[in-house]
Amino acid sequence: MNIWETENLTKHFTVRRGLLKQHRQIVRALEGVSLQQKAGETLGLVGESGCGKSTFGRTLMGLYPKTSGRLIVAGQEIQGKADQQHVLNHIQMVFQDPYASLNPRMTVRQSLLEPLTVRMAMGRALSEGDKRAKVEAVLEQVGLTKAQGERYPHEFSGGQRQRIGIGRALISEPQCIICDEPISALDVSIQVQIVSLLERLQAEQGISYVFISHDLNMVRYVSQRIAVMYLGSIVEEGPTKAVYETPLHPYTQALISLNAPLAPHMTIGPVLTGEVPSPLMTVSGCPFASRCPEKMPECEEDKPPLVVRGQQKVACWRR
Ligand SMILES: Nc1ncnc2c1ncn2[C@@H]1O[C@H](COP(=O)(O)OP(=O)(O)OP(=O)(O)O)[C@@H](O)[C@H]1O
Ligand code: SF4
Ligand SMILES: [Mg+2]
Repeated sequence: MNIWETENLTKHFTVRRGLLKQHRQIVRALEGVSLQQKAGETLGLVGESGCGKSTFGRTLMGLYPKTSGRLIVAGQEIQGKADQQHVLNHIQMVFQDPYASLNPRMTVRQSLLEPLTVRMAMGRALSEGDKRAKVEAVLEQVGLTKAQGERYPHEFSGGQRQRIGIGRALISEPQCIICDEPISALDVSIQVQIVSLLERLQAEQGISYVFISHDLNMVRYVSQRIAVMYLGSIVEEGPTKAVYETPLHPYTQALISLNAPLAPHMTIGPVLTGEVPSPLMTVSGCPFASRCPEKMPECEEDKPPLVVRGQQKVACWRR
């Protein structure tokens, strides 16, 4: 069974512009995303800055209400706020900047206890002793000592704070953790340690990850499957090896041809000419048409669906 699946998931934000905020505009952050995840698998999600990766993670977590489409988590259809706890029982998220998501006035132990208290409120009470044991087990799993549990977030390095962030996700025993740029703020040597920690947890506990990253080499290394996003749509998806060795979509081909780590919040500017359309515009044809070297006149008329091609899926009229 899939841990989660989305069907045509759409997320539009309404933003107000102008001095008096009189102009209402729609940001089309997700335009019909259909994806799914199997147990124990790491799904890499890549694409340029602003293509909708974080929005996908947050909508999947129920942090943003979906605009339309379906979201199914552990077999249950997610309709709205009432289903949030069901989602949190199965999916947790780790952010790029764990400091921002940790309460500076709470010790690590208190921060780790918080998700358990929410669980208790949902009728799954744990005794004080069980909670203490769980916190200690999680501290050990993420490589922190009991004594460090009594300290405050500002007393830790970036890598240690990310360990706390992972611990907070882990304590709810989720089947899947969405890692949104979990290592991009860290030094390279610390990045390796955090990735090894995530790998060890996967081997020991069978956790699945959605690994969102601008670092294509890292995504290639950690993911079994990869999905490439462009302007709110998935343009290609498939086993990592197949996508890297024989990319089908012209956008994936451009991304991979860079063959270099991209800066955080990347755009691939020089490799492709043409402008990325604004997510404020409605694009009726292929979202990549304005930059595609293989564009045909028909490409601007209808949006290509994501179709199966061998082991991969691709959204391009020419493939
Ligand atoms: N809360 C919000 N309100 C309005 N617009 C938003 C909001 N969050 C994201 N957006 C817009 O939705 C689009 C997708 O943004 P998102 O942050 O998901 O991209 P991303 O792929 O994660 O980019 P990055 O690589 O820079 O993190 C962008 O145009 C962004 O400006
Ligand atoms: S559908 Fe057309 S414009 Fe879009 S990627 Fe394919 S060839 Fe390029
Ligand atoms: Mg993001």
